[in-house]
Amino acid sequence: MLQIQLSEYQFLRDLIFNRTGLRVDDSRYDDLMEVLETMLVESRAASIHNLLYMLSSQATTDPLWQRLVDLITIGETYFFRNKDQFRVLQDTILPQMIAERRQQNARFLRIWSAGCSTGEEPYSIAILLRELIPDIDGWNINIVGTDLKMANLEFARKAVYRDHSFRMETRSDIKGKWFTPNGRHYELRPEVRRMVTYTPLNLINDEYPTIQNGMMNFDLIVCRNVTIYFEESVTRQVVKRFHQTLTDSGWLMVGHAEPMINTHNEFTPRNYENAIFYQKANEPQPVFQMYNPFPAAVDTKPAVVESPQQAQEETQLIHLAKLAADRADWKQALDLLQKAEKETSLRMQPQLHYLKSLVLSHNADAEGALQSLRRAIYCDPNFALAHYALGEMYEKRGELREARRHWNLAQNSISQLDPTASLPLDDELTIEMFKDLLDFRLNNLTAKNP
Ligand SMILES: C[S@@+](CC[C@H](N)C(=O)[O-])C[C@H]1O[C@@H](n2cnc3c(N)ncnc32)[C@H](O)[C@@H]1O
Repeated sequence: MLQIQLSEYQFLRDLIFNRTGLRVDDSRYDDLMEVLETMLVESRAASIHNLLYMLSSQATTDPLWQRLVDLITIGETYFFRNKDQFRVLQDTILPQMIAERRQQNARFLRIWSAGCSTGEEPYSIAILLRELIPDIDGWNINIVGTDLKMANLEFARKAVYRDHSFRMETRSDIKGKWFTPNGRHYELRPEVRRMVTYTPLNLINDEYPTIQNGMMNFDLIVCRNVTIYFEESVTRQVVKRFHQTLTDSGWLMVGHAEPMINTHNEFTPRNYENAIFYQKANEPQPVFQMYNPFPAAVDTKPAVVESPQQAQEETQLIHLAKLAADRADWKQALDLLQKAEKETSLRMQPQLHYLKSLVLSHNADAEGALQSLRRAIYCDPNFALAHYALGEMYEKRGELREARRHWNLAQNSISQLDPTASLPLDDELTIEMFKDLLDFRLNNLTAKNP
């Protein structure tokens, strides 16, 4: 394996963070070395030193940077991801915007999906607009999808998807209504595809708002599951710039578990059923519930039909793994969890990864445990116990800022819960006890590092 000096590794990690907002976990060291080796050959750089110099002077759209971007980004997405948010868009926010524009006789809308990955998000909005605006051909609708990873944008432009892009939450009627099947693929109908344009944009260091490429005056900015792993100060900067890139009463839609009042305080939060949206206007406005004459059928049936027995057997794997862990049979527990991870239906189950982290800790595999905890949080950013455990791991490593960040996130995720209820996944601890525990750990941290 490629050998580099510690100072070079640290320089690279900082460079990646400063240019993308993303932190490379130390557990990915071997993967990073593998990619660096390829980059050395491709760039014909004479040494690691030269390669690092080249990287620091190039844009993130450069093919060399894209090698790193491939390694560090997660493109997980699907059509109509988070149905509660999409319901609010469909029933309230979009109808309100459309009605206002009709009144002003200004038939245009501008929407930006920032961190759009392979296009499922902006296309879901395009589909909603087609369903909500019967005379859409008389409108000027401009939806822009941007991402750091060029390959994602290339994929999105083609708009040909597989079953994986249609999940439990995806309305089951959209495949038949808006896609043409072709073998194992589904091609998005051209009238929807045409509504979205794609362009690379790095939220950390590219320009916005700007008139140069029209990144300004948006009615709605959607940025979900992108800033989760940015540090708070970075997110604050990004959110501030979103604020400047919106029209006067424009909307910001963030991931359902992302809203943090302190990073979004220039916006007015608007609460809906199971969803918070942020509006640029300062005065609270009455929630506008407009009659929608063209409701889209809401159907939560899984897109991939699985027999109930099959689903039960798969879920059983996690249960059996837990029983094995309870009797300290770590080997069996790990085997079962690894088997469970291979099942598509289980891969996104936060408990699976949390349990795996416990098992790996018992096997003294601290790096593996850390990675599993991060996966658990990726699957459920509100997973308080996983944040707590991550905080502990970071504290042990002396990474106190990260420890504090995760304990603060654990605090946020339980702040609305009934103090007398028991903590999810831990019957012995009430929310109140857990809160006290977090306060205690955070106070100790402050004493160590004021
Ligand atoms: C998990 S996907 C989210 C996709 C979609 N928004 C959703 O919620 O389904 C995160 C995307 O953010 C992109 N991303 C990460 N850092 C970025 C940055 N600094 N600028 C722009 N995009 C970024 C990644 O390439 C990836 O496609």
